[in-house]
Amino acid sequence: MTTPPPSFTFTFDGEPVRARSGQSVAAALIASGRRSWRHTRTEGRPRGVFCGIGVCFDCLVTINGRPNHRACLVEARPGDTVSTQEGAGHDDLAC
Ligand code: FES
Repeated sequence: MTTPPPSFTFTFDGEPVRARSGQSVAAALIASGRRSWRHTRTEGRPRGVFCGIGVCFDCLVTINGRPNHRACLVEARPGDTVSTQEGAGHDDLAC
């Protein structure tokens, strides 16, 4: 029997979210019951994971104050501060 990887927490919009080592930010957010963490630029519609493989950019999220991280590709890290991204964010694409 395999031991599950250790778990830790990061925050999303100020609330703690549990994640496991090696889990993406998107996977942890979905596991916590969340389905969206970005709002579109023009109409403010909610977005979360669509492709799940880094192609569509629907899952953009702000991590530690830097916007435009693809949540489906970025590994969750202990203590990260993740927040909902409004529109396009402010920096160039980070990853
Ligand atoms: S869900 Fe498509 S890039 Fe992340």
